[in-house]
Amino acid sequence: MTVTFPSELIERLRAAQSVAILTGAGVSAESGMPTFRDAQTGLWARYDPAELASPAAFRANPVLVWQWYAYRRALAEAAAPNPGHYALAELEQHIPDTTLITQNVDGLHHRAGSRNVVELHGNLTRYRCSDDGAPVEVTIVAKDAPPRCPRCGGLIRPDVVWFGELLPQHAWNMALAATRRCSLFLCIGTSGVVRPAADLPLIAQADGAYTVEINLAPGALAGQLNLHLYGPSGTLLPALVVAAFGERSSIG
Ligand code: OAD
Repeated sequence: MTVTFPSELIERLRAAQSVAILTGAGVSAESGMPTFRDAQTGLWARYDPAELASPAAFRANPVLVWQWYAYRRALAEAAAPNPGHYALAELEQHIPDTTLITQNVDGLHHRAGSRNVVELHGNLTRYRCSDDGAPVEVTIVAKDAPPRCPRCGGLIRPDVVWFGELLPQHAWNMALAATRRCSLFLCIGTSGVVRPAADLPLIAQADGAYTVEINLAPGALAGQLNLHLYGPSGTLLPALVVAAFGERSSIG
């Protein structure tokens, strides 16, 4: 499929010293990972966030919540990065000051080779104690019930952000700093409704960056950024990198 991009975008991408990117579940959709809000297939169309992704839910039913995250971890481990993930990793090769801020917890950006990744909502493969918050190494993930913290005996929980919780402070600081110094901000595959992540493209724009949305279809950010490109990120992102920097001479 041939995609034509506005020349202003290509010129700004080639000239950019610093790029910030915000990704959401849509970037992993073509890897077979369900999004949250897409009708029919989105996780929150089938499950209630209040029962699965909140501290109160974990207190009320730790086994259910543990199993839900074990299921999502298994899905992520069975998935592979798609061409959109790889294109973002390649972009970092062309523009070293690229910060990939992701709301995704599936680890697929790292697996595609992106290095400077800020995980705003945590990662499914990390764990911490639900009592003292300290990280805990879990090598064998019990599928049935959460193990106990070897230090204090508290229940171990996934190191992800739940509804009603603050973002990890360091990750947020990194995301904000990258947003403030970039000249180009790409917002990809996110519905743009979960704050504070959804504030980032608007902060970048207020600070003078050129802001671009890439999404399958118009959503909450429609009309608010400098440019909106609609189509699958697994097609648009590789095409964008080729349009700006040419074909790669080698893979890997
Ligand atoms: P959503 O499910 O809210 O939005 C996914 C977006 O991806 C939608 O706007 C889709 O149109 C778009 N999309 C789907 N397939 C795509 C494709 N192939 N190419 C491009 N875009 C595509 O997911 P997020 O915005 O990531 O938080 O959700 C944000 C947060 O809400 C998540 O991190 C999670 C959830 O509750 C927590 O769990 C804390």
